[in-house]
Amino acid sequence: HLFTVSPETSLEFKATHNLRKGVIIGAGQVGMACAYSMLIQNTLDEMTIVDTNQEKLQGEVMDLVHGLPFVTPSIVRGGTLADSADADIVIITAGAKQKPGETRLDLVQRNIELFKKLIPEIVKYCPQAILLIVTNPVDIMSYVSWKLSGLPSARVIGSGTVLDTARFRYLLGQKLKIDPRSLHAYIIGEHGDSEVPVWSNASIGGMNLCQGDLLASDRQINSELEEVFLQVKNAADEIIRRKGATCYAIGLGVTEIVEAVLHNQNRVLTVSSLINDLHQIEDVYLSLPAVVNRQGVTRVLRISLTLKEQDRLHNSSQVLRQTIETLDI
Ligand code: LAC
Repeated sequence: HLFTVSPETSLEFKATHNLRKGVIIGAGQVGMACAYSMLIQNTLDEMTIVDTNQEKLQGEVMDLVHGLPFVTPSIVRGGTLADSADADIVIITAGAKQKPGETRLDLVQRNIELFKKLIPEIVKYCPQAILLIVTNPVDIMSYVSWKLSGLPSARVIGSGTVLDTARFRYLLGQKLKIDPRSLHAYIIGEHGDSEVPVWSNASIGGMNLCQGDLLASDRQINSELEEVFLQVKNAADEIIRRKGATCYAIGLGVTEIVEAVLHNQNRVLTVSSLINDLHQIEDVYLSLPAVVNRQGVTRVLRISLTLKEQDRLHNSSQVLRQTIETLDI
């Protein structure tokens, strides 16, 4: 048994060496995009991928580990939740995915039945983990995961509008010929049709986007920039219509969130978190800029919004609340 590592040794090794241990549930296109992105960015020391379809799981893991000689060594395996008992973070991508013409909210009941079985298993085997929900409708599934898990809300977060915010910054950057990393603009609310662009605090190099001299006139703000927002809101539909699903960008976005947690970064990201007594919103998961670190979401920023932005955010929270009230959790 030259290479057998006993569980005790593994636990001792992790405890003394602070291994970054993650589980990805779902070996579909999104789950494997998350796995590939984290592998090439050396995000985890141990990655366990879980899926009910063992044949597919084995094929995906084989295809991934054969690349290990090209990247920083880490442990990658297909397994079960029992194999990853002390994981630091569990990334949930499993569930039905949107078909062309379906909204994310259309998926909710199918995915709730799956989560009713899955979440208790995660809490049983990974009681200390941060839960990162990616499965759509992500705001609803994050709320459901929080309720089913009994964990503190801080430790149950959703990918939310992290991807929408990235799309917004990329497309605005293309329009204004500015590197998206130098452009601060957020999408908040539902990761879905009621999401909200925050124009009032969008900025480039500290200059407000809508007051500076980057735009010719209010007309340009209203027409061309609103067109950019529509491209953001409809991006997933446009991609799904062409290739059947989205995966690469969400995989990269999930990696940013995992890095913020595992490296205790205090990174501000528009993840989906439980919102109470903020902007007159109660008891709903949605995205606002929040501080993400090893404890999960420790603070949601009280950003200032115009009346129009507040109305749109309130509408978004109502859309989510109406769905939550119909749920059989
Ligand atoms: C998208 C999926 C992740 O927006 O909802 O691409």
